[in-house]
Amino acid sequence: MGHDLVIVANRLPVDRVEQPDGSFDWRPSPGGLVSAIEPVMRAGDGVWIGWPGGTEQDLEPFEADGLSLHPMSMTAEEVEGHYEGFSNGTLWPLYHDLVAKPEFHREWWEQYVAVNQRFADTAAELASEGALVWVQDYQLQLVPQMLRELRPDLRIGFYLHIPFPPAELFQQLPWRRQLLEGLLGADLVGFQLPGGAANFVRLVRQRVGHKTHRDLVYLPDGRTVRAAAFPISIDAAGYEELAQSETVTERAAEIREALGNPSKIFLGVDRLDYTKGIYARLRAYAELLEDGELDVDDAVFVQVAVPSREKVEEYQRLRDEIDRLVGRINGDLGRIGRPAISYLHSSYPREEMAAMYRAADVMVVTPYRDGMNLVAKEYVACRYDEQGALVLSEFAGAADELRQAWLVNPYDINGMKAALLEAFRADGKELGRRMRAMRKTVSSNDVQAWAESFMSELSAVRESHGKSV
Ligand code: UDP
Ligand code: G6P
Repeated sequence: MGHDLVIVANRLPVDRVEQPDGSFDWRPSPGGLVSAIEPVMRAGDGVWIGWPGGTEQDLEPFEADGLSLHPMSMTAEEVEGHYEGFSNGTLWPLYHDLVAKPEFHREWWEQYVAVNQRFADTAAELASEGALVWVQDYQLQLVPQMLRELRPDLRIGFYLHIPFPPAELFQQLPWRRQLLEGLLGADLVGFQLPGGAANFVRLVRQRVGHKTHRDLVYLPDGRTVRAAAFPISIDAAGYEELAQSETVTERAAEIREALGNPSKIFLGVDRLDYTKGIYARLRAYAELLEDGELDVDDAVFVQVAVPSREKVEEYQRLRDEIDRLVGRINGDLGRIGRPAISYLHSSYPREEMAAMYRAADVMVVTPYRDGMNLVAKEYVACRYDEQGALVLSEFAGAADELRQAWLVNPYDINGMKAALLEAFRADGKELGRRMRAMRKTVSSNDVQAWAESFMSELSAVRESHGKSV
């Protein structure tokens, strides 16, 4: 007896964290993948296979908050090679427009293959006959093919949460063909944006030599694989309800007060990641203070930077750079009781996030490249008062939908300064016009709609195979 729905993701929704006294505690895992998949899992009764962080071996399956979780252990070598190495030292920068330089190491690749195989073996054991297995993200791109070899009866979907790069970048990968073939084990390969799906189909034609037509790939064995865009989203109604609750309303007021009731609060919320454009955004803000366009008596910038991938060198360097920049800006421009930037290197629960979104007048989301960016959508969902300004990078997937944001190019500091100032000065009418339109978009394309459309497309691809054999 197995499960009819199996989610396979590198991360479990909870992270097993060692405390200073040596004991262990469970914490919500960071990042948008977990935020998006968790409500989908709650709607069904599947099992979630994933890594709970750390190197503890032989963890038993368990239930957490009503979810059925199957932990996968990793050895220290696997964490280094598969997770920190190939996933986050090679693929992450390569798939994000080379914002940092990817490294290519054969030992990392070997660990990536081994870990993918173990995840595929486990999914094969846990899935019932004809079950739906939904594999998530760049850490597990070989799983679809490995799983199909073990269990041809399964319906296999794959979803990439991050951008899929243009052929010109992807082809740098020494293992490009293996990754493409890995993904082709799925019946449906989902991407955030149509451009990612098109890049994939083009690469499959050029590099693997399969026939393609529009979004379909025809395999020599008669199978068809579809590659299409499914822009991911959030539990919009859930966020709105949370934002309206008394606790969050009170907490939002407390936050404003704790910040000295400035007339405007700017807010940034990101994992501490070099793709997010935190440095350039804070510089732009500091220049507005230096230019006298903003004043620390009127405004404060709250930057939440969630600790992320702290053993990877690029992330350590970024942390040092941001620490230094914030120190310099506050030292030069702050006054007693009035810091220019309130910097929080920490992670907060959903309720606190909702309170921050409600307290913030200008939400600043300026990644150099981002698959979607859920923070932008969460901000919109929480603004049931139809106020609040969103400054959003053109290079976040969310910019395709949230056209009424102040859209910026994060490489253009002057452009960002102008947009921050406009958003700061906008009147209630202008804010309302923009926010109403964005709210319509977010509430009609929520995470439930996203999951349903993926699932129904997946069933459709499978049925059409049936017909062609
Ligand atoms: N988040 C959180 N606590 C924090 C900061 C962020 O729960 O202190 C959540 C945030 O609400 C969002 C996710 O982390 O759901 C970040 O997703 P996003 O798509 O913006 O970026 P990612 O981290 O996946 O690159
Ligand atoms: C992004 C990725 C996810 C990842 C998350 C957090 O959202 O798309 O796959 O889980 O970042 O990163 P981490 O390395 O902590 O899992």
